[in-house]
Amino acid sequence: MRFFKAAILAGTVAVFAATSAFAADVKIGFIVKQPEEPWFQDEWKFADVAAKEKGFTLVKIGAEDGEKVQSAIDNLGAQGAQGFIICTPDVKLGPGIIAKAAANDLKMITVDDRLVNADGSPIEDVPHMGISATKIGEAVGQSIVDEIKKRGWDMKDVGAIRVSYDQLPTAVDRVVGALSVLKANGFPEANIFDAPQAKTDTEAALNASTVVLNKNAGIKKWVAVGLNDEAVLGAVRATETVGIAPDSMIGVGIGGADSAINEFKKPAATGFYGTVIISPKRHGYETALNMYEWVANGKEPEKLTLTAGQIALRDNYEAVRKDLGIE
Ligand code: GLA
Repeated sequence: MRFFKAAILAGTVAVFAATSAFAADVKIGFIVKQPEEPWFQDEWKFADVAAKEKGFTLVKIGAEDGEKVQSAIDNLGAQGAQGFIICTPDVKLGPGIIAKAAANDLKMITVDDRLVNADGSPIEDVPHMGISATKIGEAVGQSIVDEIKKRGWDMKDVGAIRVSYDQLPTAVDRVVGALSVLKANGFPEANIFDAPQAKTDTEAALNASTVVLNKNAGIKKWVAVGLNDEAVLGAVRATETVGIAPDSMIGVGIGGADSAINEFKKPAATGFYGTVIISPKRHGYETALNMYEWVANGKEPEKLTLTAGQIALRDNYEAVRKDLGIE
């Protein structure tokens, strides 16, 4: 009897070991264009949750340019990974990334920034999760319009900084969405100024916005839009350096990660008025889980998933984050 029990136990252990050995064999890469940006750190954090839950190995790689992307993919191939998720530093690398993935026999999902063909059209074959950029941009625009009205500003006295990064389609959709709501509410087109940033970070946005402010020193009230919180924070920092008070600036970002939260935590309100909080949980956890299901169970992900966002201000961001499950 004792022997029988032991045999059953041994059998159970063997079966368990076999399944977990399989999960442990699964290796998935998660490549991001700007590893220092809080949004991407949050994506990684939530991807780690999926890895822990399913027992696969997650390999996190920062790749700031095309060369690093190529070597990251080769590296994953050499390590015996089966697939990767990527937010590319340049969407035009699309066909090259696809070729590299195929050469290394790796499955691929894109996140945040969707790859494009040589003619600029989106590559629709690669499963992608991005934000519903136009809609989220419109939410940015609406919150700016509401606040302009609340402050009793006359729109003809207000300037708008459009921190732009036009080589990235999702960035265009976001700012165009925001500005369409401003214009629909009577914001004069002539008061909108383009501030093209060289990179999608705060410093580049600060430099681009400073040029606009210096050229238009006669305008004393400003609003700002951009593709993410970093872009709008750059515009806010620029207004501060030229001496525009926080109550003369309405910047609304997109993201809701630490860049925005740290701003809200400051003892006094700054010109960074709000942000549309998007979900790093969906973009990190869900893409990693989808890749796992694809590798382990042959279940192909949806070709296109667009996620929503929710506007948050200084006084309610904690509740919004809780609501989205991203505390
Ligand atoms: C782009 C931006 C990021 C973030 C994501 C969200 O990649 O550069 O800051 O906004 O989109 O999808």
